[in-house]
Amino acid sequence: MKKLGFIGMGNMAKALAKGFQASGFLPEGSIYAYAPHYDKLKENAEMIGFIPCRSLTELADAADTVIMACKPYQIEDVLTELGDKLNGKALISVASGWGFAKYQQYVDRSVRIQFVMPNTPAMTGEGVMLFEKSNSLTPEERSEIMKLFGAVGLVEELPDHLMGIGGAVSGCGPAFLDILMEAYADAGVKYGLPRDTAYRIISQTVLGSAKLQQETGEHPGVLKDQVCSPGGTTICGVAALEREGFRNACIASIDEIMKKKSEH
Ligand SMILES: NC(=O)c1ccc[n+]([C@@H]2O[C@H](COP(=O)([O-])OP(=O)(O)OC[C@H]3O[C@@H](n4cnc5c(N)ncnc54)[C@H](OP(=O)(O)O)[C@@H]3O)[C@@H](O)[C@H]2O)c1
Repeated sequence: MKKLGFIGMGNMAKALAKGFQASGFLPEGSIYAYAPHYDKLKENAEMIGFIPCRSLTELADAADTVIMACKPYQIEDVLTELGDKLNGKALISVASGWGFAKYQQYVDRSVRIQFVMPNTPAMTGEGVMLFEKSNSLTPEERSEIMKLFGAVGLVEELPDHLMGIGGAVSGCGPAFLDILMEAYADAGVKYGLPRDTAYRIISQTVLGSAKLQQETGEHPGVLKDQVCSPGGTTICGVAALEREGFRNACIASIDEIMKKKSEH
């Protein structure tokens, strides 16, 4: 992998490109990108430090590894426009629903494919990168790509049939945790905390709790038990969450995603 080319430079691609740049794994001048609105692309290019391309063809000519990062419904048209331009190249798809099996119907067998489901915390190096088991990268190429994505988050290989649910939890999860942080900050503000202080406190609490779980390897229920003293305040809060259906609401959010996914 010498030259990386992004098709689409939206939220996800920007998170990855920024993370890849910060990782130091790629020499300068090795990231290219194409998106239809050139002025916006150029602005992002100056900010992030990639080379903007004026057409899909220019992008495909420049890159040996292409990252498909436009919206899933745009991919058929993109592949039609590219024709045989991807032949012989590696294609990393981060588009929801566009896995290894689906690409087989659209691209030549010489295109080496890997489906990866990333999430936006990649921008901070703390993302989750789900790698679909089925792929046609060479083993060396796959390990290089895994190393690159590993620089922006946890790499986890999943069997093909679990990519949907894995992506629901890690890809959509940041939005749910953002709501959780917003809600606890609202509660803090309700009882007098300044808004910015409330956000700082809750986001660090989420970060710290996640780190504590990762570093101790403890079951989250055990960590919860450790802060619930008998007759104390935390257990009263836990009881209120259970009464209000917190757990159920979390599971229902994933049920809705899986229902929506099954419609496609
Ligand atoms: N956001 C996430 O958290 C997340 C997580 C996992 C996976 N993904 C996947 O990442 C992909 C992009 O999502 P996103 O949230 O980054 O979307 P987004 O912010 O809307 O970005 C879409 C990008 O695609 C470009 N684009 C539009 N039409 C195009 C075309 N015909 N050819 C090439 N590029 C085109 C847009 O360019 P213009 O701005 O110039 O129109 C824009 O740069 C999706 O397939 C999604 O499933 C996203």
